Amino acid sequence: MNAAIRAVVRYGISKGLEVFGGFRGYHGLINDQLKLLNHRSVSNIIGQGGTILKTERCPEFSTDRGKQKAYQVVKKNAIDGLIIIGGNGSFAAIHSFYAKYKVPCIGIPASIDNDINGIDVTIGSDTAINTALAAIDNIRDTATSMERIFVVEVMGRDSGYIALQVALAGGCEDVIIPEMKFDLDLCINKIIQGHEKGKVSWIIVVAEGAGKAEDLAKKITEKTQLESRAIVLGHVQRGGRPTAFSRSLALCLGEAAIDSLLEGQTDKAVGLSCGKILTVDFAIAIKKKDLKVEKLYNLIKILT
Ligand code: F6P
Repeated sequence: MNAAIRAVVRYGISKGLEVFGGFRGYHGLINDQLKLLNHRSVSNIIGQGGTILKTERCPEFSTDRGKQKAYQVVKKNAIDGLIIIGGNGSFAAIHSFYAKYKVPCIGIPASIDNDINGIDVTIGSDTAINTALAAIDNIRDTATSMERIFVVEVMGRDSGYIALQVALAGGCEDVIIPEMKFDLDLCINKIIQGHEKGKVSWIIVVAEGAGKAEDLAKKITEKTQLESRAIVLGHVQRGGRPTAFSRSLALCLGEAAIDSLLEGQTDKAVGLSCGKILTVDFAIAIKKKDLKVEKLYNLIKILT
């Protein structure tokens, strides 16, 4: 997100605009916590995870009163357009704000869940996947050396995106995601059969929304008599130095967001699709994204 802020501020200034940062997301817009940003305000943030503007979930912005307060702040500060860096929830909220108040708005998709429809990938998801993958590679060393089963829980309350990507890239033995029905007995039978043939270690990745690593590890130990451990990677996946891909995508989308506003586009997200940067109507962007999980899911099962 910081790389996106850097691009919006510096590219916006290069186009003769004044750029304000809103603190704590919609909370800042509702409570007039805005600050004029200059070239220097965004120095040395390109390699930092998170956001210098801070962020929080803001249920008040979903209410009529909250939207009205935000509109008053927009008017008071003579704001001509809004750029929202966020995920599905942030876009749904600004889409309904636009329907009533018609303040031009463009979204930059940022969510580790890659849950924005109509584009290929959100900023931050590549970083989150690589962070989780590095952890899984480290865990693999103990799994192999100590001949254990590890159940690793990754983020994704409604989405198996991170789980699938790391299970595939990490050569993991199984994956459990909210989008696919999971058969624990089948998984356990595969472990027992593998063990009989001499296999000594397993890593099973579970998305946060599909089960608890602790419970699964316990059940696996009970039924296989093999030593299992649970690891919850948690919020380590939402921080750290962004990958080159996450940074350059954020910078290009920051530029595209400013250009889109200046062209008079509104109520849309910018995003990367098939190698091109384009805009997608918020009405489409907030629809449930089909991540085509089945194909990857099946491939993981074949390759183990
Ligand atoms: O929406 C992104 C996400 O990281 C989900 O994958 C995760 O379930 C959730 O946020 C965690 O939210 P919180 O930090 O509020 O617990």
